[in-house]
Amino acid sequence: MKLATKFLGISLKNPLVLASGVLGTTGSSLAAVAKSGAGAVTSKSVWLKRHDGHKNPTVLNLGNGNLINAVGLPHGGIEEARVEFANFRKLSNTPLLASIAASNLKEFVETAKAVATLKPDLIELNISCPNVESEFGRPFACSVSDSAKVTKAVKKSIGEIPLAVKLSPNVENIAAIAKSVEAAGADAIVAINTVGPGMVIDIETAQPILANKVGGLSGPAIRPIAVKAIFEIFRAVKIPIIGVGGVANGRDAIELLEAGATLVSVGSAAKNGLQIFGKIIRELEEFCQRKKIKNISQLIGLAHKK
Ligand SMILES: Cc1cc2nc3c(=O)[nH]c(=O)nc-3n(C[C@H](O)[C@H](O)[C@H](O)COP(=O)(O)O)c2cc1C
Repeated sequence: MKLATKFLGISLKNPLVLASGVLGTTGSSLAAVAKSGAGAVTSKSVWLKRHDGHKNPTVLNLGNGNLINAVGLPHGGIEEARVEFANFRKLSNTPLLASIAASNLKEFVETAKAVATLKPDLIELNISCPNVESEFGRPFACSVSDSAKVTKAVKKSIGEIPLAVKLSPNVENIAAIAKSVEAAGADAIVAINTVGPGMVIDIETAQPILANKVGGLSGPAIRPIAVKAIFEIFRAVKIPIIGVGGVANGRDAIELLEAGATLVSVGSAAKNGLQIFGKIIRELEEFCQRKKIKNISQLIGLAHKK
């Protein structure tokens, strides 16, 4: 039974990926995740210059593995990424996906160009964080034309490195956005970023608990939203999908594959310990053996077949 897979020419030992933002800031944390079994790892979103993010408290545990966060994409900037990517390369040969963030189109292009010089296996364009707004006052991923514009501009500036675009579930028609970024040159779609924003109030003080007041939801509660998004995107585009949202075990990963994902990322669940990757892999193997599935890629998009 084969878990190894290829994604845009990148060879992975299995379809599990560390999602951006969780354990992805340092080369050593990325390498630890790779060692624990992930087929690829994604960096925290890299900014060109230092970006401070929001004040504490930034993350609340809502129970059952669900989180609300308004970290606000803190990052040390491109020089920090240069050092940490190099550290990672010394420790691991697992594929490295580089997420990038910026607040306007020009900065996205400059960041993409700078990150391309670090030679990641793929660049992931984070245009969908609900805590950071574009120059238009909302994430680029909330508009068909803004998503396409930034995808086209970045694609032109990164040479041969494949480009994946990370979409927001907080839109009326995610399939339309996916189609627009495919037409603009994206090589893959990543779906989904966090859901919301939402708010949690401390009933004693009657005040929102997050310093930013609102934050994005992640964890098992958002998985059905991710599954539906992936299902709709799979029908709308030909490019492959990295599915992400609420995956905490093998069953969840299989659900995202069957919806149409080629790779599956794990974010919030990785906060509880790196054993999650080994556990999911064992559960994928058990499922494939029980169903007599020879190659994990046979699961991709199965939910679409009647
Ligand atoms: C604490 C935290 C930080 C995150 N930071 C980023 C980030 O830097 N860039 C990004 O594209 N997504 C970021 N995300 C979103 C995750 O990559 C993922 O899309 C989302 O959490 C849904 O997956 P999950 O339910 O497995 O966590 C972050 C999520 C969390 C919980």
